[in-house]
Order: sequence, then C-alpha cells, then structure tokens
Amino acid sequence: MTSDGVYKKKKKKKNHYLNCNTVCKSVQILSFVSAVSSSERTTMILVTVLLAVAVQLANADQQQQVALSTASASFSQNLYQQVALDKPNVIYSPYSIHSALTMTSLGAKGDTASEMSTTLGITALGDSVHLTYKELIQQMNSVTEVQLHTGNAIFVNPYYHINPKFIEDTTNDYSARTANIDLAADGGPEKPINDYIAAQTEDMIKGVLQPGSIDGSTLMILVNTIFFNGTWEETFATYQTRSQSFNQLGGAVKQVDMMHDDRTIKIKRDDSNGVDVAELPFKGGRFSLYIALPQKVDGITDLEKLLAQPNKVNDLFTGLNYVRVQLAIPKFKTETKLTLNKPLKDMGMVKAFSPMAADFTGIVQSSQLYISDVLHKAVIEVQETGTVAAAATVIGISFSAVLLPPSDTFIADHPFVYFLRDNQTGQILFQGKFSG
Ligand SMILES: *[C@@H]1O[C@H](CO)[C@@H](O)[C@H](O)[C@H]1NC(C)=O
Ligand SMILES: *[C@@H]1O[C@H](CO)[C@@H](O)[C@H](O)[C@H]1NC(C)=O
Repeated sequence: MTSDGVYKKKKKKKNHYLNCNTVCKSVQILSFVSAVSSSERTTMILVTVLLAVAVQLANADQQQQVALSTASASFSQNLYQQVALDKPNVIYSPYSIHSALTMTSLGAKGDTASEMSTTLGITALGDSVHLTYKELIQQMNSVTEVQLHTGNAIFVNPYYHINPKFIEDTTNDYSARTANIDLAADGGPEKPINDYIAAQTEDMIKGVLQPGSIDGSTLMILVNTIFFNGTWEETFATYQTRSQSFNQLGGAVKQVDMMHDDRTIKIKRDDSNGVDVAELPFKGGRFSLYIALPQKVDGITDLEKLLAQPNKVNDLFTGLNYVRVQLAIPKFKTETKLTLNKPLKDMGMVKAFSPMAADFTGIVQSSQLYISDVLHKAVIEVQETGTVAAAATVIGISFSAVLLPPSDTFIADHPFVYFLRDNQTGQILFQGKFSG
C-alpha cells in the first residue's frame, strides 16, 4: 500500500453490536485521566476525571470486553502512579496506550512477550485479547451519538521485509493500515506521520515525533489515535460561568473559570474512601465524564493512594444515584506529552526496551529489534457545550546496532563499476566506473 492509503478516511461500518440492547454495565476506561491543579503538585477540588465509556455489547462478547476493560483500567492505574503523581495536571488515554502496546505484542516472543502481557494485564486473556480489541475498535468506530474515531497505522521502513503474518494480524485485528515511511519526505520522514496523526485527531495532536527521531535504524512506527467529541446531555449556560477560587494543594488559591448549574445528576458520597463521584453524561447516554472529588480539600493524595490499590478504580463508577445538586465544574484544557519508556520499564516491561534482550522475531525473523520509543500525547478540553479530547500513541521499533555485527566487509577503496538499476523491470538506467 502507498502512504496515501493511510489518509483515506475509513468508511463508517454498521455492525451488529449496535443493535444490542444489553444494559451496559461494563465500563471501559476509555481514556483521559486528568488531575487538575496548579503550579506545584497540588490540588484540591477537582481531582481525577475519568472519562469512562459504557460499552454496549452482545452478550457473548460481554465477558471478554469486561475482562479487557478491567485489564486496561488496572494498567491505567499503575501508569497513573508512574506519570501523574508529580504533575499538577495530566491527561492521557489508557485505551490508546494499552491497545497500541497490545498490538505491538503480536510481534513479541519469549520473555519479551510474557513481560508485555503481564504489564498489560492480559495474560489470562490469551490470544483472544486481539479479537476482543477488534470488536472494540469496530464498535467505537460505529458510535453515532458522539464523534468518536480510533485507528491504527503502521509505517514501515521500505528497505526491510516484515513478517507478513505480523502485517496480516495487525490489519485483521486492529484495522491497522500499513504505509511506507517516506525517508525522503519534505520536512523529514517524521512529517507525514505527524500529518497523519493530526488528520486523525482533527488537528488536536500535532508534532508527536520530533525531527530526527526516525533514522536508518528505524524499522517501523506503530501509531494509535483516538478522537472524541461529545456534547453534554445537559449543557452549561455560558452566562453562568464565572471566575472562582480553586484551592490548590498546599493552600494556594487560584482563580479558575467555573461552570455552574442546578440539576439532577447521578452522584455518590463514598464516605469510607473520602471521595464523592459525579457522572456527567454526554448526549446519547453511552459516554460519560466521571469526576472523583476528594471530600477533604487536601484529599487528592489519599485518592491517589486509593487508586494505587488493585481493582479499586471500577468501584468509583458503581452505586451512583440521582440527586438534585448545585453543580460547579471547572472549564479547562489540559495537554500532556509523555515518554513512556521509563514508566513502562518500571512497570515490568523491561526486555522489550533492551537492544540486547528484546525478542521481536514475530516482526522480522532474523534481526535484533527493540522498542526504541513509546510516546504519548493527549489533549482534553472541558467546556460548557461538551468535551473534546484526542490522543496518539507512537511506538518506534528499531534495529539494535549492537547485535548486528558486520559479518563481512565491503570497503570500496579501489576502482569499481556501478549500475543504477530498476529492480522491478531489470533495466539498467545508469552504469559507470569510479577510479578515484
Ligand atoms: C465538536 O463538536 C461541536 C458540536 O458538534 C463542534 O461545534 C466542534 O467544532 C467540534 N470540535 C472539533 C474539534 O471537531
Ligand atoms: C530486487 O529484485 C530481486 C529479484 O528480481 C529481489 O530478489 C530483490 O529482493 C529485490 N530487491 C529489492 C530491494 O526490492
């Protein structure tokens, strides 16, 4: 496929999951964990925002989807402990990171594969995890009540031969579109990939790959993108938005724009954990923004400790009841860029990053490959009318220079003849001799 193939917008596909009327109990933490605060590590009132998705499922697939969303949610909490504690504000997409790494694990073998599965929490799911992702991706791209689209793309260094099975599996299970890396692109080989990501995210995610990040040792770049744009079931009146004090951790007070409304929403007061949870549904009711607000003004640290405990996060989304409340939510925008190599290593995914020890023989049989980069960029904008959010995860696979020792030499230090040849037709377009 040419690189143009990647730019073609995927046609919306109807699928049978849409027809399901199952009560949608399962909650997929699609993305977007955000902690709002200030200058130093702080904050108070608004703490953790979880945009969760109630996934509508056919019964037969429901258990698998719940198992996958549970794994992704748990992975997300481990990741939160790595990347969010030292930041006042952060946003990332657990779905995007988890699915991109799970897709990449299709090419991993041995200990590299088992470490990835353990870190991603998918060991018990076995190979079916990929089919479960396939269904999830189809589902998400069939949604009509909000704008939601997600996609995967694989950019391959044209000079190397990838195991066809890897391309086949990523195409079948992750709808990944394959294109060549354009090493001679104007603006550098990173530009077409950054342009692709921007196109998939309505220009919200730009410049993920820095100039110079792709070189001759790059074998492939795997990309996952997600874009979400939902209108609130009940919007906030803009005239109600006013500047108001926000109590940061450490006692500082900052003025922020706060949206107001008196309305009936689902909330819960979880006194045993010292946290209140509110659900703000988007039009259609399938997607919601959950806000987990510590009861104590300086309770964010306790809430973060709670989230560090296994299987606590999903409890936040249950047991909410309709209550008429006076609601005040900040209007905010957060943008985060993360390099996930170290966090993922600290979470147990060590071998995949090691040029010496990684085993990606499912991608190229004979070469020593490793993950050189896992980059993530995400943006969320919470406004009176709704929420727009987007993210991209970019995984670079490179050759290890270390383990590719030259087995022979070719040193052109004496006169030679050369041919410039069309490899497809066999035509010699130019021929010459060089004698110094
Ligand atoms: C999100 O949706 C709203 C309402 O449909 C629209 O006005 C806005 O332009 C959209 N935002 C983006 C970034 O597409
Ligand atoms: C050039 O063509 C030959 C056969 O015609 C093939 O074996 C070889 O892989 C091709 N090289 C490249 C770089 O495509």
